[in-house]
Amino acid sequence: MSINLGSAQQNIRHFSPGILWKSLVIFTLILVFSHSLIFYNYSPYKRSADILMSFVEHKISPTADNFSNSPTNIGHIVFVILGSINSLRYRKPYIEAWWRENITRGNLWLDEFPTKKFLPWPSSSPPFRVNQDLRKWEIYPKLAKPGQIRMFHSILEAIQIENATNSNKDVRWYVMGDDDTLFFQENLVEVLGKYDHTKYYYIGTNSESVSPNHGISFDMGFGGAGYALSYAFVEVLASKIEGCIERYPHFHFSSFLSHICFADLGVDLTIEKGFHQIDLQGDISGLLSSHPNSPLISLHHFDYVYPIFPFKSRSESINHLMTAAKSDESRLLQQTICYHRQSNWSFSLSWGYSAHIYESIFPRSFLRKPLQTFRPWGRAGFMFNTRQLNKNPCEAPHVFFLETVERFKEEQVVTNYTRGRPRNMPVCSENGNHSADLISKIRVFSPGKGRKEAGRIECCDVEYEEGREMADVKLRACMKGEKLA
Ligand SMILES: *[C@@H]1O[C@H](CO)[C@@H](O)[C@H](O)[C@H]1NC(C)=O
Ligand SMILES: *[C@@H]1O[C@H](CO)[C@@H](O)[C@H](O)[C@H]1NC(C)=O
Ligand SMILES: *[C@@H]1O[C@H](CO)[C@@H](O)[C@H](O)[C@H]1NC(C)=O
Ligand SMILES: *[C@@H]1O[C@H](CO)[C@@H](O)[C@H](O)[C@H]1NC(C)=O
Ligand SMILES: *[C@@H]1O[C@H](CO)[C@@H](O)[C@H](O)[C@H]1NC(C)=O
Ligand SMILES: *[C@@H]1O[C@H](CO)[C@@H](O)[C@H](O)[C@H]1NC(C)=O
Repeated sequence: MSINLGSAQQNIRHFSPGILWKSLVIFTLILVFSHSLIFYNYSPYKRSADILMSFVEHKISPTADNFSNSPTNIGHIVFVILGSINSLRYRKPYIEAWWRENITRGNLWLDEFPTKKFLPWPSSSPPFRVNQDLRKWEIYPKLAKPGQIRMFHSILEAIQIENATNSNKDVRWYVMGDDDTLFFQENLVEVLGKYDHTKYYYIGTNSESVSPNHGISFDMGFGGAGYALSYAFVEVLASKIEGCIERYPHFHFSSFLSHICFADLGVDLTIEKGFHQIDLQGDISGLLSSHPNSPLISLHHFDYVYPIFPFKSRSESINHLMTAAKSDESRLLQQTICYHRQSNWSFSLSWGYSAHIYESIFPRSFLRKPLQTFRPWGRAGFMFNTRQLNKNPCEAPHVFFLETVERFKEEQVVTNYTRGRPRNMPVCSENGNHSADLISKIRVFSPGKGRKEAGRIECCDVEYEEGREMADVKLRACMKGEKLA
């Protein structure tokens, strides 16, 4: 109760000119920043494929109409991706990295018809739609940011399309995202499958940095992280969207308007930890190496952060991460910790991304806190605890990044991680002088069959003989009461 009152007050405070002005400054900064960067050139296990297959099977037998009891699959989700002609050139590779032709449903919404250089439109991209022209609308002159209103209005236009083609009856979720949002669809399906789409839901996340939440709203699902709206909610929302724009024409940010409108209809944000707005700067490897124990759903803002793999461009980095995703989305970025007690080493693995070796035995409660390799947006810090980087050889990890992914049928998946760069530090002498400098490669074996159970960690064993350059790590279910410390 008190929480609800608090959020109501917060929303009311947003209407005061001071806060609005601050938000305006932040938005302007975001826009300026984003444009300068856009032009900066860089150029109980279930088989994972089943989630997608059940949709394909459904398409073959369209009479299977009884959805309410069947598991959610990718065919139940309509993506509403908000883009523009200006950003298309830079962001098309991001969309194509995750979009699956003939499987993913939805559209990329644009402000204008694509110019010749984008045509013919490739089938590897989501089909595009051009938004309705809002200029004829009476309210238009009062709109503070027509471009942002256009994005918000896309929700309504997407529903109208599904309605017109009579395909709405098998939609369970509408998922909003930006053209620089990377979605992990199998994980999204699994997470949304926990919720009842016949009830009202607005599922997403807020910003990782305190300042954007403080300046905009702690109650908002940030649009770049993506958010999901249940069908039942969208059905009532559709007829309210234009009224809401007329009520609040002065707002500057489509996700902000969304959460205000949803609040007016009594629907508040449900937070899922797999969505990521990535309001961070610099090197986000620390965060990606200690991801929360929850399936990875989205990543965003690749233009603002360094490429996530060393020696790769942004686009190459994304495609590299997607090769791991294709082999096993359920384990992607999931942290697994184990120890080599003969050497007093801790191994922390972020599956499909990185592996760290510490020359100390550290408990999981410590290792799951991200190493602060990145900076926040604004001055106010992060929404989660971090570990400071330090030069103590007992605390600084040896860092390895994903090199190759290989699947051996149903049996197992082998991922190799190679050293990013030399650690350039002496050995940790407090724990018996066991240097890990010699290790240049870590090979990780994980089950090839089925998806890892969401929200439950796995354990592992390290196999390493002194003097060798490669360490092997084998993932397995944790034993009853197994201690990670
Ligand atoms: C849908 O499934 C439920 C339970 O399996 C069943 O009771 C109901 O009759 C089905 N409805 C239709 C239209 O097939
Ligand atoms: C998608 O469907 C079209 C039409 O059925 C087909 O021509 C095309 O090969 C399909 N693409 C893929 C990648 O399956
Ligand atoms: C969808 O179609 C139904 C009738 O088929 C109509 O009642 C409803 O208003 C339509 N919704 C939207 C958002 O167009
Ligand atoms: C991993 O590295 C080893 C040793 O370099 C190599 O033999 C093996 O083929 C690699 N495996 C994969 C899956 O890349
Ligand atoms: C591990 O480190 C502790 C001190 O932290 C030390 O007492 C112990 O001997 C070390 N064990 C090995 C096998 O080096
Ligand atoms: C580790 O090396 C340091 C310095 O070289 C030495 O003082 C210390 O006794 C060594 N510790 C062990 C356990 O060998």
